[in-house]
Amino acid sequence: ADPDLLQDFCVADLKAPLSVNGFPCKPEAKVTSDDFFFDGLSKEGNTTNIFGWSVTAANVLAFPGLNSLGISMNRVDFAPGGLNPPHSHPRATETGVVIEGKLLVGFVTTSNVFHSKVLTVGQMFVVPKGLVHFQLNVGERKALLFTAFNSHLPGSAVVPTTLFASRPSIPDDVLTKAFQVGNDVIDNIKSKFSS
Ligand code: GLV
Ligand code: MN
Repeated sequence: ADPDLLQDFCVADLKAPLSVNGFPCKPEAKVTSDDFFFDGLSKEGNTTNIFGWSVTAANVLAFPGLNSLGISMNRVDFAPGGLNPPHSHPRATETGVVIEGKLLVGFVTTSNVFHSKVLTVGQMFVVPKGLVHFQLNVGERKALLFTAFNSHLPGSAVVPTTLFASRPSIPDDVLTKAFQVGNDVIDNIKSKFSS
């Protein structure tokens, strides 16, 4: 979904003192082979959290060689029962392949249709750009997923934290009306995310 590049590459200078739509390029004379390799997805993430999951991102911020190439990946680790909570990527379509375990993968269309399937090792999915999706570990053991995106920085709007853990928080009046429940329910949900 990112625009096409006008040159071979543009290794990001993440510290450049200016702001552009993307990142400026590091001078080509300073580019080395290391700029095109990344081992940040080799380690298992820490899944000790309320969702029992961990996302390790290989986007332009972690792997500057991806800058302006319109591509990136994530590693997603799941504890047994772990959930990658409903979220959407405003700038990318996502595809993924299960490396280990068994995952219920699903997304909802803008016509409010839910598509889902339980996937095992080697099986793939696609989530069209911007749609809300999740993965739930439905196997007995931990699970591992690798995902790929057609953006160097897909962005992620995580539904539960967007609605219940923003700073400052969304007024209760908005949430009680939106979900047709009382303040007690909203405050209870908000309390789960205050650390
Ligand atoms: C999975 O949904 C991911 O965003 O990596
Ligand atoms: Mn995703």
